[in-house]
Amino acid sequence: MKKSALASLALSSLLAVAVLAGCGTGNQPGTAQQPAGQDSAGQAAGGGKKLVMATSADYKPYEFHDLSSGKDEIVGFDIDIAKYIGKELGYEIEVVDMNFDGLVPALQTKRADFVMAGMTPTPERLQNADFSTIYYDAKNTIVAKKESNLTKPEQLAGKKITVQTGSIQEGAAKELQKTIQGLEIVSLNKTGEIVEEVKTGRVDAAILEDTVAKGYVEANPELQFTTIQSDEVNGSAIAFPKGSPHVEEFNKVIKTMQENGEMDKLINKWFGQ
Ligand code: ARG
Repeated sequence: MKKSALASLALSSLLAVAVLAGCGTGNQPGTAQQPAGQDSAGQAAGGGKKLVMATSADYKPYEFHDLSSGKDEIVGFDIDIAKYIGKELGYEIEVVDMNFDGLVPALQTKRADFVMAGMTPTPERLQNADFSTIYYDAKNTIVAKKESNLTKPEQLAGKKITVQTGSIQEGAAKELQKTIQGLEIVSLNKTGEIVEEVKTGRVDAAILEDTVAKGYVEANPELQFTTIQSDEVNGSAIAFPKGSPHVEEFNKVIKTMQENGEMDKLINKWFGQ
């Protein structure tokens, strides 16, 4: 991608934050323009402290926009975990939605206190962010039209596949490109667009995580997903700015949730057995 395209991408994620911080879901009026960060953590309405959580709410069941109540609410597994942690530690949590590839930069520029987005701690991300312990595991799958019979990476020679910009699936696709002839990658910002591209046939397949693929395939019976055989699992963890004082206290609550059954309850609620 050209530098200018990158710059405008960065700019558009900036704008998304500004707009959502102004009028988005779950924001506290009056604190919207306040930058996030350990030193500037806002005073919440009840007098408690506020932390800004950045996410990319295109990732059902981890985080997604729920319109069923008539208003636009960001809900999901990650949101429930964040709420629980917030309650335990006495923080009000403000959720800010942006593109996935803007999340780590938002931590680096202190526009968010933490990120929950089904995000996997990779060596590269660990250079720019600190991570909590892992709270859930996932595997990569190939999502394609049923009629295509595309189920294995080897079958992707000469095919066009789509992945989320900045995700480990994009990394996996680039890895495949080294050995699979003529594999073309289309990176897109939102998972909904990715699935749309497969449905319309503009691309042959997508790489998506199993739990997310499952929901999209259930909603679109013409699609199928097949887990890519590999020993690798993609754990999800909470990301923080480097040196954040919150890592340890968050880890304590994750541990409590794993011990007191709360995590299993939420896993059941959002992923089924
Ligand atoms: N687990 C993958 C990663 O860390 C994908 C996460 C995508 N999350 C999202 N909210 N869109 O790269």
